[in-house]
Amino acid sequence: MNPLANKHIVLGVTGGIAAYKSAELVRRLREWGAEIKVIMTDGAQQFITPLTFQALSGNTVHKNIFDDEATMAMDHIELARWADLVLIAPTTADRMARMAHGLADDLLGTICLATTATIAIAPAMNRQMWQARATQANAGRLREYGVLILGPGEGVQACGEIGPGRMLEPQDIATRVRGLFVEPLLKGISVLITAGPTREAADPVRFLTNASSGKMGYEIARAAVELGASATLVSGPVALENPVGVHRIAVTSAAEMRDAVMMHLAEKNIFIAAAAVSDYRPTDYTEKKRKKGTASMELSLALNPDILAEVTAIPNHPFAVGFAAETHDLERNAQEKRHRKSLDMIAANHVGGPEIGFESDENALSVYWEGGGAEITKASKWQVAHRLLALVAQRYHEVEDL
Ligand code: CTP
Repeated sequence: MNPLANKHIVLGVTGGIAAYKSAELVRRLREWGAEIKVIMTDGAQQFITPLTFQALSGNTVHKNIFDDEATMAMDHIELARWADLVLIAPTTADRMARMAHGLADDLLGTICLATTATIAIAPAMNRQMWQARATQANAGRLREYGVLILGPGEGVQACGEIGPGRMLEPQDIATRVRGLFVEPLLKGISVLITAGPTREAADPVRFLTNASSGKMGYEIARAAVELGASATLVSGPVALENPVGVHRIAVTSAAEMRDAVMMHLAEKNIFIAAAAVSDYRPTDYTEKKRKKGTASMELSLALNPDILAEVTAIPNHPFAVGFAAETHDLERNAQEKRHRKSLDMIAANHVGGPEIGFESDENALSVYWEGGGAEITKASKWQVAHRLLALVAQRYHEVEDL
């Protein structure tokens, strides 16, 4: 899970409002094992302090060529040689113009000229500034010089305007950087994922549901895209943003989730059922809100379709991964579930404890397949998702090769 281990990244931060997002970028890249040295321009320091980047990168922040403290550690030529990648995020219109003309009047400028490493920039500016002829000409020139231009994205800008010019999200930049160094594990693979709870209505305002937050399924979808897959996410009602690049289909009930899965199953290589589907639904849905009156009332329930079992009953079904939430006898119950539902793999987690599970941002899994198993120790759900997908990718290819 350290695809960027031993990779040296010089991160240039220039003076745009998006500079604060680069703090998150440092965190993401370090989680993947990269070592990062940050250069901040004077403009950048108006938006965010060097201390933030020093704390996050674990290294002294370089500010200018004659900066004694940093220069003692490494001078600008050494820094340029040290880099496997020079990444500039955010990159202002002014910085693009300087780079296009080879200006070297500050530390970042000299590094760009002195390095033989790949240079990637993530532009961030007002849409008119991005679309200006001069900026577009500069972008063209930089591409000719071999500079990779990541983005910009489109959307609402800090200035209130809408259009192209936003810096890509840190996670998106990190993923593209990762792609420069490692062959994505799930390249060309199509993954269908279910996530979240389902809601089973009893009347127009009442329903049965459970405490699933959907976080694990969403992180799996995010990680799948990060690993080069195309990901479709069939999601029950949750309060989560759609991960970048994921095709999300929103559903409410188990029946809707089943229909959406069946509709999108064709051509999928891998199916991962992370949803906490309600096992039962009220049988007598009333069109009008139920009125109270009696001292007690009974709700009759009918069994919902088992989506995962229906998928594995289809001939030539995709590689199927199920989840099992267990309070006791984890391995025995999970293995029994794997056999009963004819799964290629099952990921089991302990529930009932306070620290991991539904609402938590962390998880730990015991994963089992025919003839093998692995433990994924407690980590953020995003990291757990990556580790799980690494196992899925390996096992998927083994099964395919049989
Ligand atoms: N699942 C499904 N459709 C259902 C019920 C479950 O697709 N109607 C999937 C879940 O997404 C999960 C796995 O099946 O991948 C869980 O199986 P299940 O037998 O429901 O296990 P638990 O929820 O752990 O329930 P129990 O232990 O009560 O059997």
